[in-house]
Amino acid sequence: MSTQKPRHTEDGALYRTSDPIIEVRDAEVVFGMDRGVSRVLDGVDLDVQRNEILGIVGESGSGKSMLASAMLDAVVDPGRLSGRITYHPADRDPVDVLGLSKAELKRLRWEDISMVFQGAMSSFNPTMEVRGNFVETLEAHDYDVEAGLERTREILRDLYLEPERVLDSYPHELSGGMQQRALIALSLVLEPDVLVMDEPTAALDLLMQRSILQLLEKLKQKYDLTLVFITHDLPLVAELADRLAVMYAFELVEIGPTEEILRDAAHPYTRSLLNATPNIDSGLEEMRPIEGSAPDPVDVPTGCSYHPRCPMADETCVEDDPEFLRADDGHNVACFHWQDAEEAVPFVLDGQEADR
Ligand SMILES: Nc1ncnc2c1ncn2[C@@H]1O[C@H](COP(=O)(O)OP(=O)(O)OP(=O)(O)O)[C@@H](O)[C@H]1O
Ligand code: SF4
Ligand SMILES: [Mg+2]
Repeated sequence: MSTQKPRHTEDGALYRTSDPIIEVRDAEVVFGMDRGVSRVLDGVDLDVQRNEILGIVGESGSGKSMLASAMLDAVVDPGRLSGRITYHPADRDPVDVLGLSKAELKRLRWEDISMVFQGAMSSFNPTMEVRGNFVETLEAHDYDVEAGLERTREILRDLYLEPERVLDSYPHELSGGMQQRALIALSLVLEPDVLVMDEPTAALDLLMQRSILQLLEKLKQKYDLTLVFITHDLPLVAELADRLAVMYAFELVEIGPTEEILRDAAHPYTRSLLNATPNIDSGLEEMRPIEGSAPDPVDVPTGCSYHPRCPMADETCVEDDPEFLRADDGHNVACFHWQDAEEAVPFVLDGQEADR
């Protein structure tokens, strides 16, 4: 098992931003498994800054969905979430998310922090028309249905959909891209401040992914949203996000402004991830998959959990777990030797940064 991470103090902590809308502190998710304790989120500290677009990236199984679920106290049973999640509305007192009652949580999840869950294409009720799905949501939250449907039509138009056609269709009658946009509309109908999207475009073709990204940017401006966009597709989210947070083995390993991560990624894993997918248009021959495999949560390597795959690992890395260090203003990295990463893990393509 990994060595215990020293718990840090809050004062001047590197992960803090100036105006956070969500604060995640020491978030941990544990599942008791037959094979042992499975820690699938391991002491994550993160601020989501008001009105930013935050991209969260990492390999499959790195804990991205767990982090997203943690933000809304939506971790599935029998997972146990601990730590502190604070939501800061613009006009009310801060909300202790993990202290909310069931009813309060239900409100928060639609009206404050809304989430499009991974694989959510299926989250429309297939036995009723799309309109029925919207009406049900509005009624469940005591919203004025007519006003809510008016807002729905406006959002659908913003997403380049014909409102009546979509509302009168059954979910299966819509294409994947249309369903996904309708789902985004549903998640916005109760006027949340934050929209958390977990792989919202994974099932769509590249063109549709890009057009949805552009639409999200437009929605963000119009509805004054904060967006958290989770994906394993780094180049895709890099086109949209103000900041990128990189997860490895259930922890955050790097966070910073997008341009800086693309130009000067300081963690060897982030650099390898960028090399694995140099840019959105590059061919397969240019990709370098990262050797080795992602850790099993019941058997996480000691010290820095990336050490078995890291070309720079030394004894310190095997024994100690690196804390976040400052690579630059607002750019933090959990690696003892980040200053040597540029040389040890060079970007594959010359001038690659300029292309991204
Ligand atoms: N219900 C569950 N019970 C036990 N372990 C789980 C459960 N759901 C997920 N896990 C484990 O938690 C870890 C993190 O999973 P998570 O779904 O957060 O990964 P992810 O980064 O979202 O991956 P992907 O890119 O494939 O969506 C994985 O090891 C996964 O096997
Ligand atoms: S150099 Fe050490 S601390 Fe940094 S990523 Fe590699 S193994 Fe981890
Ligand atoms: Mg996931």
